[in-house]
Amino acid sequence: MDTYDLIVLGGGPGGYVAAIRASQLGLKTALVEKRDTLGGTCLNVGCIPSKALLDSSEFWARTAGEAATHGISVSGLKLDLATMHQRKDGIVRKLTGGVSMLMKANKVDVHTGTGWVIDAETVEVRSAGKGKNVTLKCRNLLLATGSVPVELPFLPFDGKVVVDSTGALAFEKVPDHLVVVGGGVIGLELGSVWARLGSKVTVVEVLPEIMAGWDGQIAKTMRRELGKQGIEFMLKTRVTGVAVNRGKAVLTAQDSAEKELEIAGDRVLVAVGRRPYLEEGNLETLALEMKDRRISVNGRYATSLDGVWAIGDIIHGPMLAHKAEDEGMAAAECIAGRAGHVNYGAIPNVIYTWPEAASVGPTEEQLKEQGVPYRAGTFPFAANGRALAMDATAGFVKILAHAESDAVLAAHMVGPWVSDLIGEVVTTMEYGGSAEDIARSTHAHPTLSEVVKEAALGVDGRMIHAKN
Ligand code: NAI
Repeated sequence: MDTYDLIVLGGGPGGYVAAIRASQLGLKTALVEKRDTLGGTCLNVGCIPSKALLDSSEFWARTAGEAATHGISVSGLKLDLATMHQRKDGIVRKLTGGVSMLMKANKVDVHTGTGWVIDAETVEVRSAGKGKNVTLKCRNLLLATGSVPVELPFLPFDGKVVVDSTGALAFEKVPDHLVVVGGGVIGLELGSVWARLGSKVTVVEVLPEIMAGWDGQIAKTMRRELGKQGIEFMLKTRVTGVAVNRGKAVLTAQDSAEKELEIAGDRVLVAVGRRPYLEEGNLETLALEMKDRRISVNGRYATSLDGVWAIGDIIHGPMLAHKAEDEGMAAAECIAGRAGHVNYGAIPNVIYTWPEAASVGPTEEQLKEQGVPYRAGTFPFAANGRALAMDATAGFVKILAHAESDAVLAAHMVGPWVSDLIGEVVTTMEYGGSAEDIARSTHAHPTLSEVVKEAALGVDGRMIHAKN
């Protein structure tokens, strides 16, 4: 029987990164994954395929809607959805295959099958008839089993008409009318894909605004911009049930005055959050301490049981791939007896619609609530040369800095490629930098990054290309 220094349960971005780092640090490491491919939700049915479809649908929408303004006339434009899906599947294959190669290169033993935890030192890999079950021994066990979509009891997934995010990545034809339950990140990203490809899209959200937890100014701007693209929003509307008949759905809902409504569509995407995935591996046998249905860990990712560690969506914090990756590295370092740390105050959050939204740090509303004295600088993309050349002038960058020390506290952005622009602010925050530090750094001209610089200048009321 093999004895490993570390067994990682779950091959998503948290688990596989932890396995690589542990192996780099000299630990004999095994990774147990029940899917045939590595990469977890993110690579197989999440971040990556959704971005592939977002890019394809954006290409389509720009060609169909904007080519003429560039003096390019296009005729005979035709959508071939099957090819679009094949391209997406090819990207997923390439990336998941790449992770398998990384495992080999880093000498991590991959065991395919469900990891059934017998105790903190013993995991049985159950291969569901695909091979022999094997029992592995370990000195440390790292749990990284991720999350699954929340299923509402009154809105069960049927995989055809009422689907989760995985189903909405694979529609075989463009729905005539897609109803999205939940105005969060998945609803907006996948709603955008299908709206661009021709669906009527209605987003039904129970709260008074979409993008719960985001800065209010960002959410409002995003709703306006996505509205211009034809996405319809029904706010303060709670979905209460569904009837499916002959491939069509009729949702029942209540508005804020508790008036009963019916919303008909031919596909329903339910995107009302995700929950930690803890039920399959006999994890309850470990009797770990839990908090808010997630596994409690200390600052070193150690659970309440010696030798058992946990990271990613099953512990505290946002359910984000990059957060899990960084926790994976930090946990591996802690397991190897080194120091590992994640700065939860500087984790970026991105929505990959067009325009994109990105944020790091507290919202303006939170700073007000906490009584933190701050100054804000806001600069619009409409005043940036590169954005004008790109025809992508919607949105702005807002930087919030401490009123006394000028330390950057947060940034909130809507606009072109803000998913990349947010990185500069994250780095500044990691270094404890100030708005002045960003403002005094030379940003190439003409680039979108100048919007970040101008917003930083705006903190002190000295923007050059807009009125302060
Ligand atoms: P979410 O938590 O972002 O949004 C769910 C929304 O559904 C909330 O606004 C909530 O108020 C609403 N809702 C709940 N019950 C409802 C009902 N009965 N009727 C109407 N509205 C209702 O969840 P989402 O979009 O499913 O995403 C799940 C997680 O996946 C996110 O928390 C995120 O961490 C992760 N994710 C991240 C991505 C990214 O970073 N770009 C992309 C996709 C997912």
